[in-house]
Amino acid sequence: MKPKIFVTRKISDSAEDKLKKDFDITLNLNDEPVPSSELSKIANDYDGFISTGFDNIGEDFFSNINGRLKIIAQVGVGYDNISIDTAKKKKIKVTNTPDVLNESVAEITILLILATSRRIGEAFSIVKSGKWKYQKPDLTKFMVGNAVIGKKLGIIGMGRIGREVAKCAKALGMQIIYHNRKKLSNELENGAKYYSNLDTMMQNCDFLSIHTPATNETKNILNKLNIGLLPKHGVVINTSRGSVIEDDALIDALENKKIFAAGLDVFNNEPDLDMRYLALDNCFVLPHIGSSTHETRLAMSMMAVDNIYCFFNGKPLISEVV
Ligand code: DGY
Repeated sequence: MKPKIFVTRKISDSAEDKLKKDFDITLNLNDEPVPSSELSKIANDYDGFISTGFDNIGEDFFSNINGRLKIIAQVGVGYDNISIDTAKKKKIKVTNTPDVLNESVAEITILLILATSRRIGEAFSIVKSGKWKYQKPDLTKFMVGNAVIGKKLGIIGMGRIGREVAKCAKALGMQIIYHNRKKLSNELENGAKYYSNLDTMMQNCDFLSIHTPATNETKNILNKLNIGLLPKHGVVINTSRGSVIEDDALIDALENKKIFAAGLDVFNNEPDLDMRYLALDNCFVLPHIGSSTHETRLAMSMMAVDNIYCFFNGKPLISEVV
């Protein structure tokens, strides 16, 4: 009998087609979210799950599991929606999709760096709203932003995505400094300057971009105690997870012009983000689209499917989390 696989959300067509060949699969063709309470009941009829970051696979999910489910292959590099410790206890493998999204997340990070420094949100709104013709032409004030070239980009978390961002930012003429749990080898550092102390790095950067996973250690890594260390022209960029930022601290800094701007692709409690962000001209927001290109979503979907293949063919998993 073919192993039974449940795919919680719509994934790329060719990944679904590949899966169909060797597995007994249930697809979510209309892409309606499956309520969390239903997911664990469904799991008891399947040998494997292909999940996404939209699914809540927390402790409750595992408490009702009957032992049939053996693997959860997540389409996504982040897996903060899955209770990893519990999966481990239940001997359920979890895989993710690292590397294949590095470039697309780096692209969105660069977009946010440029959008915030050059005030693209405000500029776009002025044209779209028809207000441009009423603006006083003003050489020194109208939509004047900050240059990026020559500026220091401070990266928190110099993993695969952080390093890709560094590479792209260098191409824009930025200087890279970083804070990480450990100093990288010279080769991986590639000219970036290491700060073992985050506070010291924050005082020295023009842009701060966060690229850490969402863990207890990184929760509110940017907070009311350290945000004041950024210079007044400082810009905060976040394409990792909302939980790394204490919203009250960032909103206060933006509202009171303690920093220049923020560019955010991810939020606490998304999509129900703190609405105060939307009232701010100096905050450029996106709806969590870091990995959202056809190419990357296909590669992510394929990688999850390949992990399923490896598991049921007794081969080493490509990207095992536990
Ligand atoms: C990930 O892979 O975790 C991304 O945030 C999803 O877009």
